[in-house]
Amino acid sequence: MKSGFNRRRFLGAAGGVAAALLTTRLRASANNRMNCAVLGVGGRGTGLLSLALTIPDVRVAAVCDIKPDRLANGLDMVTKAGQPPAAGFGDRGPLDYRRMLESKDIDAVIIATPMQDHAPMAIDCLKAGKAVLSEVAAAMTVDECWALVRAVEESGRMYMLSENVCYYRDLMAVANMVRQGLFGQTTYAECGYVHDCRFLSFEADGSLTWRGKLATQFIGNWYPTHAIGPVAQWMGINKTDRFASLVAMNTPPVGRQQYAAKKFGPESPQAKMKVVNGDSTTTLIQTANGAVIDLRFDTSSNRPHRMTTYHSLQGQTASFQSLTNDIWIESRSPSYEWETMEKYLKEFDDPRWKEFAETASKSGHGGADFFVMKDFFDALKAGTPSPIDVYDAAAWSCLMPLSGQSIQSGSARVEIPDFTRGKVKLPEAKNS
Ligand SMILES: NC(=O)c1ccc[n+]([C@@H]2O[C@H](COP(=O)([O-])OP(=O)(O)OC[C@H]3O[C@@H](n4cnc5c(N)ncnc54)[C@H](O)[C@@H]3O)[C@@H](O)[C@H]2O)c1
Repeated sequence: MKSGFNRRRFLGAAGGVAAALLTTRLRASANNRMNCAVLGVGGRGTGLLSLALTIPDVRVAAVCDIKPDRLANGLDMVTKAGQPPAAGFGDRGPLDYRRMLESKDIDAVIIATPMQDHAPMAIDCLKAGKAVLSEVAAAMTVDECWALVRAVEESGRMYMLSENVCYYRDLMAVANMVRQGLFGQTTYAECGYVHDCRFLSFEADGSLTWRGKLATQFIGNWYPTHAIGPVAQWMGINKTDRFASLVAMNTPPVGRQQYAAKKFGPESPQAKMKVVNGDSTTTLIQTANGAVIDLRFDTSSNRPHRMTTYHSLQGQTASFQSLTNDIWIESRSPSYEWETMEKYLKEFDDPRWKEFAETASKSGHGGADFFVMKDFFDALKAGTPSPIDVYDAAAWSCLMPLSGQSIQSGSARVEIPDFTRGKVKLPEAKNS
């Protein structure tokens, strides 16, 4: 992807750290209408745009994409949904979105461009006074994570990470159980994003997509948030605990070349491309309270999948594993045997799922996508804190560069920064 960005340009640009008054300031019009823009309307952005068009009181006022056909399609979707025509941007190149940000009418920007551009774009949006819903991951370097935190603190605008897996129905029910104390102290979790995405590596002409570029250039777990998001919420990361350190290891890279050789021929440049990342990246994270998380990332291995993500949680008094849909709760289960999660879903279903399951069912990822959009605009309208704020976004996203740092230093233990800078008072570290 040609980004046109100088990634260094904004780092350190934000000076002293302002007091963290992370309230949402929305210039809502008298009738409470919220105007939003969608930046990047490829595969994901188109889905998010169609969802935004279903949220009451939301008007999509602008659409931006550098590809003319996608821009035209996005604009068309707005009018077909019965809304007034949206303004179109992107025809003047990769930085044209800044022209869009000059509009005083836009309250919020939904960012669904390639991952490499999320942080610079989000920071520009925040500085222009817009709230941001950013696709995953939030940032790709630790410096970007800090710059994003500063931009939110200094602008006072709402920032939400669009991590839809946190809204899976069963995972939200587990969160509810954790809140109600059924798990006791949470000590261990396994989670992974294991999804053969090799088919998304190449454009029709054989050149690399943004995913293909990441796979060939980036060492480490470059898609951590689907897996770590729900676990971080269960474990109270940035509330009662925090990520303290990690170690990571890679397998050898074989899957992508194998795929490219089949698709383009064994002598093709694609089959001979140098892949620097391993197929499977395993990261062990230790929290300040001593809990351990085993995080796996694999979008290259040759295998089918039932689910693209998996999550398990071990607590003092309960255990859950999503792949087998099993749960055991000491205070509830009749014997020392696994039970099916279905048995407890009704009782622990999140109230949002209870109320909106039917509407949500029309959206992607089992309905989870609907709740991301709803939560974002609900918080924006009410001026309540971001449902997945910049501190969570930074803590989850920094696992990308830090897993790479560990791998490149022989799986050495790497410290994980506290992006809240001690704002959340944590219990004394026990084991790190
Ligand atoms: N949460 C999820 O389940 C999920 C699923 C898929 C993708 N994603 C995320 O969504 C993002 C987009 O993924 P995708 O699969 O839609 O990619 P994509 O390549 O299909 O879409 C990206 C779009 O951004 C446009 N774009 C690129 N640079 C731009 C610029 N400077 N200004 C305006 N438009 C620009 C491209 O032309 C393209 O249309 C990625 O960050 C990805 O991680 C999330």
